[in-house]
Amino acid sequence: MSVFDLEIHLDEQDLSRALRADAAAGLSASPKWLPPKWFYDARGSDLFEQITRLPEYYPTRTERHILAAHAADVARLTGAKTLVELGSGSSEKTRLLLDALTAHGTLGGFVALDVSPAALRDAAAKLNAEYPGLSVRGLVADFSRHLGVVPRGGDRLVAFLGGTIGNLLPAERADFLRDLRAVLDEGEYLLLGTDLVKDPAVLVPAYDDAAGVTAAFNRNVLRVLNRELHAGFDEDDFTHVALWDPVNEWIEMRLQARRDLQVPVRDLDLVVDFAAGEQMRTEVSAKFRRAGVERELAAAGFALQHWWTDPQERFALSLARATAKP
Ligand code: SAH
Ligand code: AVI
Repeated sequence: MSVFDLEIHLDEQDLSRALRADAAAGLSASPKWLPPKWFYDARGSDLFEQITRLPEYYPTRTERHILAAHAADVARLTGAKTLVELGSGSSEKTRLLLDALTAHGTLGGFVALDVSPAALRDAAAKLNAEYPGLSVRGLVADFSRHLGVVPRGGDRLVAFLGGTIGNLLPAERADFLRDLRAVLDEGEYLLLGTDLVKDPAVLVPAYDDAAGVTAAFNRNVLRVLNRELHAGFDEDDFTHVALWDPVNEWIEMRLQARRDLQVPVRDLDLVVDFAAGEQMRTEVSAKFRRAGVERELAAAGFALQHWWTDPQERFALSLARATAKP
């Protein structure tokens, strides 16, 4: 696939319209919030890749170990002919699945879906070079809105890795799983990565690293607003905050105003007031337990078939099968 072959289901205009709607809602709410999908312009996707290599950020390397141990099982159990990856990013760990499915002899195609054209373009170019026999399709789309664009047929395995499902709020998660089940046929599979509840002494540094990469990633959303909506945020006016919420069992990332601010957002015809110390939520990253994952899957029409973890039980990969529609 060349750079021109991305299938755009979310073009610049749609992205800008969606960002505008989210920013208008989130910046005028109390407390303020922004959805995490806006982190991932080219710089944000690159910062995320840097995060995955940080010593404090255990999820990526842990999930990679679990995948390395069980990719052959996934291939044998699913016999998938098409691998679909949602929120695919660099698709770096996905190579373990591509290799296992290729070795198993079933794989015909790979479909990567991501809201970030930059990440997708990079990943697709590399995968094309590395897997010359594989049909690779890159879909620029929002997995919360456009699952209908996932091609049908072909004994599909949908991979949703990295714990990205945890970046959805509980109601969004339920909608997402239900919508995903609706585009699958009975007997097709979901391979879901979920980060697990653990000691906050491990969790918090993963979202507040010593080198400040996560802080730069968090503040990147302000740059996106400046560029896309002609806003006037100064990154230096905001501190990165990462908190463990023990009731909701999620990490919450916020940006805290260092002083009283009036920030113009020209394209929204809005001036946003921040009081010194005010915090705006930019991401939740939910952590899971087996019973909760199994329950949420079942409620959406998926039967959990395998639950694989690392020896320290930091992260889990679930293999679930789409059951008969109610
Ligand atoms: N799956 C990769 C990347 C995780 S980062 C891994 O495990 O390392 C999260 C990815 O999801 C980013 O590439 C981001 O652009 C994408 N993403 C976030 N919200 C999205 C949405 N609503 N629709 C589609 N992609 C989304
Ligand atoms: C993509 N997602 C699973 C990451 C996470 O851990 O919630 C995004 C991230 N946010 C801060 N660091 C990484």
